[in-house]
Amino acid sequence: MSDSISKSMSKNRSKSTSNNNYSLVVIISGNGNNLQAIIDSIESGNINAKISAVISNRADAYGLERAEKSGIEAKILDHTQFDSREAFDIELQQLIDTYSPDLIVLAGFMRILSDSFVQHYNGKMINIHPSLLPLYKGLHTHQRALTDKQSEHGASVHFVIPELDAGKIIIQGIVDVKEDDDDESLANRVHKIEHHIYPHAVKILAEGHLKYNGGELLYKDKPMEKPLRERLQ
Ligand code: GRF
Repeated sequence: MSDSISKSMSKNRSKSTSNNNYSLVVIISGNGNNLQAIIDSIESGNINAKISAVISNRADAYGLERAEKSGIEAKILDHTQFDSREAFDIELQQLIDTYSPDLIVLAGFMRILSDSFVQHYNGKMINIHPSLLPLYKGLHTHQRALTDKQSEHGASVHFVIPELDAGKIIIQGIVDVKEDDDDESLANRVHKIEHHIYPHAVKILAEGHLKYNGGELLYKDKPMEKPLRERLQ
């Protein structure tokens, strides 16, 4: 294993362990508010799963401390130590696979992933994106929604496929756009709804209610015609 896996921040047994063997690896780059929402949901018994590891490509990601506080193994894999995207992704894949997770949860992981990495986790990797996909793929989603004078905005949890922000959508969280919203106020409300919908998506996957059936989503054994929706109250 590479030297760039520089630090294992916790050797404690995870508190975020329940009776279920459903195992998550969460990949982050930063603050980890979505990670925290999932940790909280597991610790409160709402999600029956365990987080086997949190992996960050940045050593200064606050999410690593969140993991450590909950006794979850926290790993750093510094992308700047690799010559190419592919070399980093191969190492990341090897690291993830040591945990044999059922689900890989991208939670603010700020890197494009190579196609072969994404294909390796086909149907097993989810992401949260701050827009009502298919609207506003990519960056600066809140500002773009404001510029377009949208009345609604939000976030989407989706399976990851090689095309950016394009996989099957599991759930969307919707917020009203207010007259006096700016980028920050709108982003704050979207973050709030993210912290509901991401644990919800993990929960239904861990419970086996949602299945990725060769690219088609089955919810409670029926084809899922459209994403689940939650609205910020
Ligand atoms: C969230 O806004 C999410 O939509 C995007 O990255 C951000 C991560 O925030 N993918 P945090 O690290 O969970 O606080």
